[in-house]
Amino acid sequence: MALLRMRLKVLVTVMTLNIFVFILVSRNAGRDKSFQDKVRVPSKPFWSRMTRSSGYWNRQQQVLDFRYNPILANLSAGYLPDWLNETRVSFDACRPDTGVTTQVKDYNSLPLRFKDFLLYMHCRYYPVLVDQPDICRESPFLLLAVKSLAPHFDRRQAIRESWGRAGEVANRTVVTVFLLGQTMAGDHHPDLSAMLSYESDQHRDIIQWDYRDSFFNLTIKEVLFLDWIQTRCPGASFIFKGDDDVFVNTYAILNFLGGLSPTKAADLFVGDVITNAGPHRDKKVKYFIPESMYIGSYPPYAGGGGYLYSASIAARLHAGSRRVALYPIDDVYTGMCLMKMGLAPEKHRGFKTFNIEEKYRTSPCAYKGLMLVHPRTPQEMIQIWSWLNLPDLNCQ
Ligand SMILES: *[C@@H]1O[C@H](CO)[C@@H](O)[C@H](O)[C@H]1NC(C)=O
Ligand SMILES: *[C@@H]1O[C@H](CO)[C@@H](O)[C@H](O)[C@H]1NC(C)=O
Ligand SMILES: *[C@@H]1O[C@H](CO)[C@@H](O)[C@H](O)[C@H]1NC(C)=O
Ligand SMILES: *[C@@H]1O[C@H](CO)[C@@H](O)[C@H](O)[C@H]1NC(C)=O
Repeated sequence: MALLRMRLKVLVTVMTLNIFVFILVSRNAGRDKSFQDKVRVPSKPFWSRMTRSSGYWNRQQQVLDFRYNPILANLSAGYLPDWLNETRVSFDACRPDTGVTTQVKDYNSLPLRFKDFLLYMHCRYYPVLVDQPDICRESPFLLLAVKSLAPHFDRRQAIRESWGRAGEVANRTVVTVFLLGQTMAGDHHPDLSAMLSYESDQHRDIIQWDYRDSFFNLTIKEVLFLDWIQTRCPGASFIFKGDDDVFVNTYAILNFLGGLSPTKAADLFVGDVITNAGPHRDKKVKYFIPESMYIGSYPPYAGGGGYLYSASIAARLHAGSRRVALYPIDDVYTGMCLMKMGLAPEKHRGFKTFNIEEKYRTSPCAYKGLMLVHPRTPQEMIQIWSWLNLPDLNCQ
């Protein structure tokens, strides 16, 4: 009996002591600023229920986020919550998805290019028409990939004769390819197929896929090229991808790449990076995107005129692109894929996608330290290249 009373006494004492300590600590916590700084009590909920986005692209992305979420995906194959179940994403069937005509609320009043894009937004595989399967038999140090259009024969030839000259350049192996879609008779394009096939036989540097080459389909070109790298040129150490109206100082690029540390080289993605941008809501702008299509801002992205990245980034972009819904602006899309993989592009001042000051444009030395200038005509490309090769070009 006495023992029990004794135990009770001890228990009560310990509990009283505990309460006392609790009061002391909580009172001190109230006063002590540094203590308050350490414990952050969220003022708003830090977790929120996913809800249906009003942007069609955003909803497609929500579907992909579900599909590629390893925990949710295992709940049951193909499971989608009710609020997402109107939409479907198919990687195989490239038939027009007429569901978009009701799922995008202002579909009928959108400009034609949006309708064309939306109907085929779920399709990312098109057959290759012209390929160069052995072009990387010897793995290049630098792969130059130029986005071109079938009728741009002169631009391609100027690039071959100047900055895109393939072979040994400054003791490095350089391979150049031109990326093309189709010019469709339905768009009233003349039939250039015989000329293109002659060009391809002559130079063996054309890659062409069977889809309609248009501004909004440049993202298809990006996705197909990422596939192509993995199958045809996985050994390329670095890849430059750019337009056919830019001048590239291949020497400066090779020099820059040769000077990178191995860690820097592995994670390289450089270009003219645009941050804090978002969709244009003005219908007259080329880059206009309606709110029914996309909500939100853009991740940092490198202007599509030209950017440079490593083999390892190419592989990660390839993996990332499967998890990002196609977006009609290709360079923004690449920024989205980088972000998906936890990467960000880095700005390099040598990429002048908005040109250089007018007074320097005819000065040979202005090009010596640059990596890229946009825009340049075929004649200008050849002129600038000859300047860079002057044996006595002496720039301070
Ligand atoms: C999901 O399923 C796959 C294959 O059935 C399995 O390899 C993986 O570990 C599962 N993931 C989780 C998070 O349970
Ligand atoms: C989605 O909706 C379709 C048709 O309404 C239904 O057959 C299907 O079971 C639903 N899927 C899921 C995963 O809820
Ligand atoms: C190329 O290599 C040769 C022999 O190794 C060397 O003499 C030459 O300076 C190198 N050229 C360049 C541009 O690095
Ligand atoms: C993209 O290419 C596909 C396949 O050729 C075509 O059906 C679609 O209309 C094109 N989209 C745009 C926006 O041109």
